[in-house]
Amino acid sequence: MTQTILEVKQLQKEYTGEVTFKALKGIDFHLNKNEFVAVMGPSGSGKTTFLNCISIIDRPTHGTVTINSKNPFELNDEELAKFRRTELGFVFQDFNLVHTLTVEENILLPLALDSMQEEEMMKRLAKVVEFLGIEQILKKRTFEISGGQKQRVAIARAVIHEPGLLLADEPTGNLDSKAVNDVMGLFESINRAYHTAILMVTHDAYVASFAHRVIFIKDGILYNQIHRGNNKQHFYQEIMDTLTFLGGGQNEV
Ligand SMILES: Nc1ncnc2c1ncn2[C@@H]1O[C@H](COP(=O)(O)OP(=O)(O)OP(=O)(O)O)[C@@H](O)[C@H]1O
Ligand SMILES: [Mg+2]
Repeated sequence: MTQTILEVKQLQKEYTGEVTFKALKGIDFHLNKNEFVAVMGPSGSGKTTFLNCISIIDRPTHGTVTINSKNPFELNDEELAKFRRTELGFVFQDFNLVHTLTVEENILLPLALDSMQEEEMMKRLAKVVEFLGIEQILKKRTFEISGGQKQRVAIARAVIHEPGLLLADEPTGNLDSKAVNDVMGLFESINRAYHTAILMVTHDAYVASFAHRVIFIKDGILYNQIHRGNNKQHFYQEIMDTLTFLGGGQNEV
């Protein structure tokens, strides 16, 4: 059995418009099952493009993406929609919740789209709600809860399917420092308890230091990567040093 959840080979993305722009220039990347990897790099370096090509929001110009031994770009629209719903989870900076629905309805949305039986849906809901500690807010609307709670709800929705791969683009970008710690603690627990591989874009070295490995993208190229040893503080310092070396400081947006 393969230990690989994601394999990216020679990934290139060219945006064509008034001017042509090569956002990714041939990236090779490999993510193991259970691995937690952060993606860093200056603003405009191609991080979101990289994630969007993996999450199949964007189509690469060249190269391949293999998720769980499957090439999602070979699927038809219906298969692709199902593939994304079942094998991938998404967490975004701005939470992407549906404001007309309650918290509970938001979390159940991906299962409802799959026409899952009510009993199974409720079983899954109970599990994820307990795991994330959001029993108290289930009946609330999304405008009645805090930013940190919104991100918890978005995470619940992303993992209720127990996807093999969780993709997150700046998941802590709109959160205060307490909520940042909460969300990163949750990512760590999800990674451990659900054996979910995580690929997370962040500008924040502290947030990145929760990962097992950090890759750095610069000008569309995978520039460097560093692994966490036993010492998180040391890892954080190494991330900071690499960012300084890379230019375009960590808080640049
Ligand atoms: N739809 C598009 N059309 C044309 N160019 C684009 C498009 N999307 C992104 N780009 C360009 O591609 C490059 C990479 O963009 P991307 O959004 O991947 O950067 P990023 O590393 O995520 O930046 P940030 O840290 O600011 O979020 C940028 O120069 C951007 O202007
Ligand atoms: Mg981005």
